[in-house]
Amino acid sequence: MDVLEAIKTRRSINKVKDTPVPKELVEKILEAGTYAPNYHHTNPWRFFVLTGEGRKHLGDVFVEIEKSNLPESELEKNKEKLEKLKNKPLRAPVVIAVGIEPSDRPKVLKKEEYAAVNSCIQNMLLTAHSLGLAAIWRTGARTYHPKVRDFFNLSENGEIVAFIYLGYPDMTPPERDKPHFSQFTTWIGE
Ligand SMILES: Cc1cc2nc3c(=O)[nH]c(=O)nc-3n(C[C@H](O)[C@H](O)[C@H](O)COP(=O)(O)O)c2cc1C
Repeated sequence: MDVLEAIKTRRSINKVKDTPVPKELVEKILEAGTYAPNYHHTNPWRFFVLTGEGRKHLGDVFVEIEKSNLPESELEKNKEKLEKLKNKPLRAPVVIAVGIEPSDRPKVLKKEEYAAVNSCIQNMLLTAHSLGLAAIWRTGARTYHPKVRDFFNLSENGEIVAFIYLGYPDMTPPERDKPHFSQFTTWIGE
């Protein structure tokens, strides 16, 4: 698939089949991520590939976080919500958690490390799409919770930037209305 076509036809797909995704395809996606631009060649991305039962551990962390925000007396009332939360990572056969470990070299700016990881994620989404897979970048406040960071053994400076839910598409996303780029563009010729 031509790059421009991939960019223009990629969509966030939130409903995928249970069908497993071959490891070789996941590896292609991971490899593409590492081709993103990264100033000072810091390779700040970290990948955690969750499949099968492995996804359940993440659900347990989500529940732990939610529970820590609830008083003991509210737990029973929130049982259904907690159960839903526990099952969130089971929505796709593969969840790739993309983390960041920013370099501590003095010349390296943290915001540029994030820029590199965000580019990495877009590479991954586009590659998934070009391979006929569906993907969606998911976050939410819980993503950045220290318990999530600790679960993935990231350092105090690191965190998860995206959960990429990956699988074979089970829906066609509705048409989107793309505003014309000219609305956001200023040409400065002289
Ligand atoms: C930083 C970031 C976080 C996102 N988190 C979520 C999310 O938690 N849930 C979700 O449904 N989509 C999430 N998305 C996907 C956007 O909702 C999606 O890209 C947007 O609706 C445009 O749709 P498209 O990707 O099909 O063009 C996220 C996207 C970005 C860039």
